Amino acid sequence: MSSNIVVAIDGYSSCGKSTLAKALAKKLHFIYVDSGAMYRAVALYFIRNNVDLNNHDQVVKALEHIHLNFHSRDYQTHITLNDEEVSAEIRQMPVSDKVSAVAAIREVRQEMVRQQQRMGKSKNIVMDGRDIGTVVFPNAQVKLFMTADPKIRAERRYKELLPTNPDMTLEDVFENLAHRDYADTTREESPLTRADDAIILDNTDLTPEEQLQFALDLVKPLIV
Ligand code: CDP
Ligand code: CDP
Repeated sequence: MSSNIVVAIDGYSSCGKSTLAKALAKKLHFIYVDSGAMYRAVALYFIRNNVDLNNHDQVVKALEHIHLNFHSRDYQTHITLNDEEVSAEIRQMPVSDKVSAVAAIREVRQEMVRQQQRMGKSKNIVMDGRDIGTVVFPNAQVKLFMTADPKIRAERRYKELLPTNPDMTLEDVFENLAHRDYADTTREESPLTRADDAIILDNTDLTPEEQLQFALDLVKPLIV
């Protein structure tokens, strides 16, 4: 029986999941896996190759041609799509606009979940996403469900994206987050929902340091 520790962090878009997951992994020397980056990379491939999301055969064929790899440097996500570094491109609006539709496809989810479960098989990991505590690792030792005021979330993400997207407005970001949250919570396949045993962490009024302390208090007692 494996005794590795899995920390599952789920929640709405832009509510601080990856900030917390990275900081936690760094502090505890765990591996950090950004599951959203995987769905984003698949969406990028689908956009570039004009894959029709309603065409089952096209989707399945495209998935066979997608090879994703993570390279962790300083706990930042570096993801390659068929050996091309796409870490920056997957954060841009065209991908953000499409990713939730791509992530709603059953075959896409099955393949991503399979890869994610393999990564957490024998190592201590922190993984963030939408279905980590419910589907990918239902037996995770620590589950957090993060949330924050939608306006605050949009402002935080806007600040982050503005330097590379000067034409973008706060409304664009707010609408993208609202659209993705709606799509992610209402889809048929593994909708975003809180696992019964997940602890809610609302970070509307918390700094990144305060949310890290909250999580450390939960995980540290499990480390022997
Ligand atoms: O922008 P944000 O960091 O909040 O999103 P993300 O974690 O990069 O995830 C992008 C999108 O991928 C989400 O809006 C979901 O549609 C999808 N996703 C998912 O369905 N399941 C996951 N475990 C992770 C992400
Ligand atoms: O991963 P997720 O989409 O949930 O969110 P994130 O990328 O970790 O956080 C979105 C933005 O909120 C980043 O710019 C973080 O620095 C910021 N943030 C914050 O200001 N205060 C927090 N307590 C958590 C995140």
